[in-house]
Amino acid sequence: MKTVVLLAHPEFAASRANRALLAGLDDLPGMEITDLYALYPDGKIDYALERERVLRADRLVLQFPLFWYSTPPLLKHWQDTVLTPLFYLEPDIAAATTGLPILTAITTGGPSANYRLEGATGNTVEGLLAPLIATARRCGWLWQAPFALHDVRNLDDAALAQAGEAYRSRIRSAPTRERQLEVLA
Ligand SMILES: Cc1cc2nc3c(=O)[nH]c(=O)nc-3n(C[C@H](O)[C@H](O)[C@H](O)COP(=O)(O)O)c2cc1C
Repeated sequence: MKTVVLLAHPEFAASRANRALLAGLDDLPGMEITDLYALYPDGKIDYALERERVLRADRLVLQFPLFWYSTPPLLKHWQDTVLTPLFYLEPDIAAATTGLPILTAITTGGPSANYRLEGATGNTVEGLLAPLIATARRCGWLWQAPFALHDVRNLDDAALAQAGEAYRSRIRSAPTRERQLEVLA
């Protein structure tokens, strides 16, 4: 059972929130954590490598700080570079990923009150992630409610550690493709 986490943070060295979330995953079995910006500092994504990563995932987690209400650019580039050839040129291979649960984990500078329909953004986190939800549907993946950590600049170390624990529990309880296939069988 493999949980593939794609971290997309262009300044991870200065990160507190995403670092704390990842720390919560320490020692969880079956984790494969990839720091996309560290792996591809020149932005040139290796399609074959990333295709294999997706194919071996039983859960896919996209973890990133919210940047202008969207993903950091390398994660969008990853979608363009990996999902486009996989789903449009190699659909038979892509079909092996059907039923893959996909979870997003997002950190925001803004407080949670901003991420309500009546709040400053006029949107929920899930509403802002509509392109990723549509992508999941196009790929035949199982969208999971996002894990969101808000107001991160005002969280002290204890609150961040608690968030790391909550993230760990969330990932542990997320469905896996194997289990999903068992349910469907
Ligand atoms: C370029 C940029 C854009 C950002 N856009 C948003 C945003 O749209 N909404 C928000 O709540 N926070 C925004 N932030 C704040 C980041 O989400 C926040 O700094 C990050 O989640 C902190 O995580 P870290 O401690 O792992 O770096 C932005 C930050 C940067 C640098």
